[in-house]
Amino acid sequence: MNRRDFLKFVTIAAIAASVLSFCVVTNSQEKEKMNKTASLNPKKILVVYFSHSGNTREIANQIKTATGGDIFELVPVNPYPAAYQAVVDQAKKEISANFKPELKNKLADISQYDVIFIGSPNWWSTIAPPVVTFLTSYDLSGKTIVPFFTHGGGSIGHCETDVRKHCPKSTVLKSLYIYGESVKNAQSEVSEWLREIKIIK
Ligand SMILES: Cc1cc2nc3c(=O)[nH]c(=O)nc-3n(C[C@H](O)[C@H](O)[C@H](O)COP(=O)(O)O)c2cc1C
Repeated sequence: MNRRDFLKFVTIAAIAASVLSFCVVTNSQEKEKMNKTASLNPKKILVVYFSHSGNTREIANQIKTATGGDIFELVPVNPYPAAYQAVVDQAKKEISANFKPELKNKLADISQYDVIFIGSPNWWSTIAPPVVTFLTSYDLSGKTIVPFFTHGGGSIGHCETDVRKHCPKSTVLKSLYIYGESVKNAQSEVSEWLREIKIIK
């Protein structure tokens, strides 16, 4: 290799090395930027619900779709009877005894969530007992709690105030109260509410 070829080789090698180091730096800067974006947008959402006949589940799924949150169904170890009058009678007894039914499933790590939606059917003008079990089993202090309820035509009664009572160290946002018969077409009402409480834009 003569002197000219050698100089050419050294120049090409220097250019290649700087292009390579530029790529490595850019890639790590991009990763850092993505990490920063994730930490700038830290709101992790969980949608928790109990549903006996499917209405509250329908709304829970609509909230999950609109927010991209995780979803968690509360399932009692002893299922409620399917027959309407039987569940109405059992619920009445459980509510007046302040009974908290054992739940089948446990959340592995609630600490990762900032915003927790909690859904219940209106049962005797309050929240269903499995929801009370949930609210009293986990440390919800400092979390934003967002209640939603489905109903059969009655007033909201104690539903929202009872959620507030069970999580005094949380910020409880304005709830959604929606007629059970109309849940299938509730997407726009759900989105409007989510915008009003500033969960989505
Ligand atoms: C045990 C029981 C009690 C209920 N109590 C009320 C009530 O007090 N007020 C009301 O508007 N609807 C009441 N309902 C109707 C439910 O709130 C309504 O059907 C709800 O959408 C059911 O939700 P789910 O399908 O998620 O279980 C009651 C239903 C049951 C089974």
